[in-house]
Amino acid sequence: MDESKLQLEYAKKTADLIRGRGLKYHSVVFGCQMNEKDSEKLCGVLEVCGYEKADSEEEADLIIYNTCTVRENADKRLFGRLGVAKQYKSEKKDMLICVCGCMMQEETVIEKIKRSYPYVDIIFGTFNIYKFAELLYTRLTGGGPVIDIWKESSEIVEDLPAKRKYSFKSGVNIMYGCDNFCSYCIVPYVRGRERSRKPEEITEEIKRLVQDGVVEVMLLGQNVNSYGKGLEGDPKFHELLYDVSQIEGLKRIRFMTSHPKDLSDELIEVIRENDNIARHIHLPLQSGSDRILKLMNRKYDRARYLDLALKIRDRIPDISITTDIITGFPTEEDEDVDDTIDVIERVRFDGAFTFEYSKRTGTLAASMEGQVSPEKVKANFDRVLSRVQEISKEQAKRFEKRTMEVLIEGVNEKDPSMYTGRISQNNVVHFRKNAQHIGEFAKVMLDECKGFYYNGITGD
Ligand code: SAH
Ligand code: SF4
Ligand code: F3S
Repeated sequence: MDESKLQLEYAKKTADLIRGRGLKYHSVVFGCQMNEKDSEKLCGVLEVCGYEKADSEEEADLIIYNTCTVRENADKRLFGRLGVAKQYKSEKKDMLICVCGCMMQEETVIEKIKRSYPYVDIIFGTFNIYKFAELLYTRLTGGGPVIDIWKESSEIVEDLPAKRKYSFKSGVNIMYGCDNFCSYCIVPYVRGRERSRKPEEITEEIKRLVQDGVVEVMLLGQNVNSYGKGLEGDPKFHELLYDVSQIEGLKRIRFMTSHPKDLSDELIEVIRENDNIARHIHLPLQSGSDRILKLMNRKYDRARYLDLALKIRDRIPDISITTDIITGFPTEEDEDVDDTIDVIERVRFDGAFTFEYSKRTGTLAASMEGQVSPEKVKANFDRVLSRVQEISKEQAKRFEKRTMEVLIEGVNEKDPSMYTGRISQNNVVHFRKNAQHIGEFAKVMLDECKGFYYNGITGD
């Protein structure tokens, strides 16, 4: 039997088992958009299993934590949450606690959970999330905890139900895993080798989403620019993006993440020529120092990055370019950080996520000589952050007073008389509610730039 059908069988058997008990689930996600997407699938499975959504962990009969391990502090957050969950479980003995995701691919974490958090009921990793219904059924019909971690898998199982967080936008996986082995990064170890989905499967999924009311998609992969490796016909990312841009009814397309080493001229052209592709590119720099970039195994140097970023700015002037930067990589000196700041000033990033280097056991960088002292890392981090913030504020000014298409994403959290949405460049806009609805595009004049967001005005 086909795997997704088999899992649906398990989900139905689980539903029969728990029928009438009014059980509820709560999902907690750490980490990146891949995890967000995975959790939507897990929630979809839980709903077929007969669970309803709870508003909080406290109310839930089943909590599922999807974990991230890209930086060290992620571990602490999870263990803190598990401690609190123990409290809930002591008051509700049938409650199930499930943990999955990237952190579970590390043996030391599994050992720690078994030792210190034995009340966790189901543990699985990144390669077998599609087996969730089966694991849940096994737990409900068996005695003890279920632990199932796979080391690797080349299988891609789709077509499981997903419970989308938003009705009008959705992430779409185009590839899984990563082959780049940047020396600081644990992702290739916990997500396995790169594997791409077939273009026709991706476009079919997006067409179904559009029929279902989705107007914006985000194509997801650790390095979307190397999409297609190993597939028949050797499809390229720019071809896929073009095909997606031609899907009728799809208003906005985003993608994440672009590795600078593989970003092609053809891709820039496809973005330029198709207005429904967002004017935003996330292009992680990591460092502006050639010496550090080499040690990071990023496979580009500062000149190449600058060339690429400035070329994109030149061909698509309205585009926003955002980035990721790490400070405190082993052996990093103040001069290396000066080089990073120099690139920030030349590219003029519209936004940046800045991170202090975090040592991940098992990566090449973890065993490098010359780990930098926390004081020095902090000082350089602050230097980078303040420059990045100054520049991105100045950059945001360039759209002030312009009228732009804003996708209304929700009611403003602080002021229910306002809507919050995003422009194509990904900046946030707040404006007074008009007759339009969440999930629609409004024409909004970006009246006042507040640094990271705008206060806007609509015509009606
Ligand atoms: N595949 C994406 C990045 C995924 S991880 C890419 O290459 O662009 C997201 C970001 O986390 C990275 O861009 C990097 O800046 C940061 N990161 C990854 N490992 C890290 C580590 N060990 N310490 C600090 N930051 C890290
Ligand atoms: Fe990590 Fe590099 Fe892969 Fe991104 S490209 S996930 S930073 S190894
Ligand atoms: Fe974290 Fe895994 Fe994403 S380690 S950043 S959740 S791929």
